[in-house]
Amino acid sequence: MTSWQKSDWRKKPRVQMPEYTDQASLVATEQQLGRYPPLVFAGEARSLRQQLAAVSRGDAFLLQGGDCAESFQEFSADNIRDTFKVMLQMAMVLTYGAKVPVVKVGRMAGQFAKPRSAPTEIKNGIELPSYRGDIINDLDFTSEARSPNPQKMLQAYTQAAATLNLLRAFSKGGFADIHQVHSWTLGFTESEKASSYRDMANRISDALDFMQAAGLTSDKNAELSTVDFYTSHEALLLEYEEALCRVDSTSGKYVAGSGHFIWIGDRTRQPDGAHVEFCRGVQNPIGLKCGPTTTVEDLKVLMAKLNPENEAGRLTLIARFGAGSVADHLPRLIKAVKEEGSNVVWTCDAMHGNTIKALSGYKTRPFESVLREVQEFFAIHRSENTVPGGVHFEMTGQDVTECTGGVRAVTDENLSDRYHTACDPRLNASQSLELAFLVSEELSQTNKTRAARIAS
Ligand code: PEP
Ligand code: CO
Repeated sequence: MTSWQKSDWRKKPRVQMPEYTDQASLVATEQQLGRYPPLVFAGEARSLRQQLAAVSRGDAFLLQGGDCAESFQEFSADNIRDTFKVMLQMAMVLTYGAKVPVVKVGRMAGQFAKPRSAPTEIKNGIELPSYRGDIINDLDFTSEARSPNPQKMLQAYTQAAATLNLLRAFSKGGFADIHQVHSWTLGFTESEKASSYRDMANRISDALDFMQAAGLTSDKNAELSTVDFYTSHEALLLEYEEALCRVDSTSGKYVAGSGHFIWIGDRTRQPDGAHVEFCRGVQNPIGLKCGPTTTVEDLKVLMAKLNPENEAGRLTLIARFGAGSVADHLPRLIKAVKEEGSNVVWTCDAMHGNTIKALSGYKTRPFESVLREVQEFFAIHRSENTVPGGVHFEMTGQDVTECTGGVRAVTDENLSDRYHTACDPRLNASQSLELAFLVSEELSQTNKTRAARIAS
């Protein structure tokens, strides 16, 4: 590990990365980013790793959520605030219902680069490079918009810095104080679950009044007045990642300065590829997407490469098989983890195996499939006696119509009403809250099964 260099990925086969034609501009951009401050610090990445170690033992639960792709155009304080609010609500539902601390990680402040199923897109007989996220090119279907422009990395950095700045202010500046539990609701989320949330918030307020009378106030207890909120993204654009990678003066080890938690996507997890090579060398907690094509052999090699010291909290496996397919794949991967004695956090990305094309032509995800994948994930962990550590959703605080279903049912015909995603369809605020209640039930049941096993 000591001989690892942050540029070593350049010697490995790379996939899903743009071919920049303007090399001079690329080099100048990398140098400029290399002089900028990192967005996160090693100490924060280490605290997150400790919290994820607790998740791996079943003593905490990981909630990861945010846009599929952050967009330059949709960038606003309101959007950041609303996604943050929904995540606070979801975390509160989980903590209240299942009585576990929730580790909160936003797919935010860096989630700009996208892998694509095809390198080019054809429209009306014209073929252009696929859109790969705002850090690389533009969505407009013109040759100029679609050519990769290295300078877009600078705008992504600026947006990530401003996003993180606001998230830090919200987390520590009073907005996330538990006394605000009523104010995190969003006007349009009226539903049966919204009123369940209000009931829960009333009970929490009551408990807080009691605690205040007993002398326990939030000005004396940082746990009540602030939250830890971490950021994550797919470490896809390695030029950007390398430029923000720094040596941490405390440990002398490398840290990815682009976000707290970075993950390797389902399309870029080749054991001898560039993305694995980069991620193995940084001390941040690392995520690894596991899909139907993940083999047991590859998983074993990847666990050894990415977590050679077998540290708890270092490696999170993000399972994304699709509803109805979890039983075909998760047990064999759990068996591989058991055979190796590896420490991992198991989480469920219930989005990426459930994307379908609606009759209207929109890419969508049925709420029922998302829920079913979560339920299958929990059921298998209960029967394997392993820890279902967390969930991973593509979601937004906005009232979008991108996924179908939920109690305020979005139908196929509604999809065109407010379909704003720059990439994959996201759960809206109401669907996200509804899922949190259902996940909380699964988690409570898992904790009961676990307690019964310990007692017997
Ligand atoms: C994503 O998380 O947006 C993504 C592309 O996922 P996956 O790598 O699992 O397909
Ligand atoms: Co996605």
